[in-house]
Amino acid sequence: MSIRPHSTTETPLIVLEDACKYFPVRRGLTRRVVGHARAVDGVSLAVARGEALGVVGESGSGKTTLARLVPRLIQSTRGRVLYDGQDVETASGRDLIRIRRRMGIVFQDPSSSLNPRTPVRGSIARPLELQGIRGKEATRRVLETIELVNLGAEVLDRYPHQLSGGQQQRASIARAIILRPQLLILDEPTSALDVSVQAQILNLLQSLQAQIGLTYLFITHNLSVVRYMSDRIGVMYLGRLVEVAPVGPMQDRPLHPYTAALFSASPPLNPRLRNRQRYRLVGDPPSLISPPPGCSLHPRCVFAVEQCREEVPLLVDAGDGRQVACHRWMQLALAVQTG
Ligand SMILES: Nc1ncnc2c1ncn2[C@@H]1O[C@H](COP(=O)(O)OP(=O)(O)O)[C@@H](O)[C@H]1O
Ligand SMILES: [Mg+2]
Repeated sequence: MSIRPHSTTETPLIVLEDACKYFPVRRGLTRRVVGHARAVDGVSLAVARGEALGVVGESGSGKTTLARLVPRLIQSTRGRVLYDGQDVETASGRDLIRIRRRMGIVFQDPSSSLNPRTPVRGSIARPLELQGIRGKEATRRVLETIELVNLGAEVLDRYPHQLSGGQQQRASIARAIILRPQLLILDEPTSALDVSVQAQILNLLQSLQAQIGLTYLFITHNLSVVRYMSDRIGVMYLGRLVEVAPVGPMQDRPLHPYTAALFSASPPLNPRLRNRQRYRLVGDPPSLISPPPGCSLHPRCVFAVEQCREEVPLLVDAGDGRQVACHRWMQLALAVQTG
C-alpha cells in the first residue's frame, strides 16, 4: 500500500505521549498486590489522519491494552493520550462521548459487538439509537452501511449465530462505521477467521478506508496481515515500541534486532530473498512484572553489550520517517539481503 501524503502542519489524529498502563498483579488468599504488569510502558506515537498504522507484536506485548487506551476503555497509569488535539484522559463525560462517537472499534470476537439475543439489525443500529436516530432515518442508514460492507438486507433479521464468521465480522464493521467515524481501531479483526475469509475482510477494510477516508489503528500479531494493511508499522515488545517505520523500509532493512528476528521468522514472499540473513533471538520473553533492567530484549539479543544491560534505550529518530529504540542500531546495520 502506498503512503498517502500527509501535511506535516496538520495535528495528528492520535497522539500518545509516554503512555503507560500498569496492571496490579495479586497473589494468594488475601489478593495481595505483589507487583505490576507493565502492559504498556512509555509508548509515544502519533497517527496522522488517513494513515493506516499497524501495531504488531507477540501475544502479551501490550497491543490490546494500547488499543484500549485510545478511547479510554481503560485509564492510563501515566502519560497522555490526545485525540484530535483533545486530552482523552481528562475529558469530561460529555466530551468523552463526543470523542468516542468519532471512533469505531472492531474486536477479534464479533460477539463483543453483536448481541446474541437480538437480530443483527438491532446491534448495527444501536449506535444510531444512542444518538436518538430512529425510524426511517435509522433504516436508511443501516441499509446504506450494510451495502458498504457487502452484506445483503436479508442478514438483518438473522441472529448472530445464524451468520458465518465472515458475515458476523462484516456486521461488526457495519456497526463500527455506522456513525461515520474518523478512526477505526481494529484489534485482531481477522485472527479468528479462516485464511480465505480473512483475505476478504482485509480487502473490504482497504476499500472502506479509501471510500470513506478512515484512519486505521490496526492491531495484529500476524506479520503478513500488518504488512498488507499498513502504511507504517509499530513493533511492540514487552509493552514498549521498539521500532516504527514505513512498511517497505522496515521489511527491507529492519533497524531493531527484534524487528529483524520477527521478519526473519516469516518467509519472504519473494523467493530471491529466501536465503537472506536470518536473525534469531535466544530464550523466551521475560516476565512483565520484573522485566530485565536496561533494554528488555538484552537477555535474548546476541548483539547486547554492557550499555544494553544498564540503560533503557529511548525511541529515537533514525531518519526517513523511522524511529528505533536500540543502543546499537547504527553499528548493527541489520540490512537483509534484497536479492
Ligand atoms: N485487565 C488486566 N489485568 C491484569 N493484567 C492484564 C489485564 N489486561 C492485560 N493484562 C496483561 O497485560 C499484558 C499485555 O496484554 P495485552 O495488552 O492483552 O497484550 P496483547 O494484546 O499484545 O496480547 C499481558 O501480560 C496481560 O496478561
Ligand atoms: Mg490482544
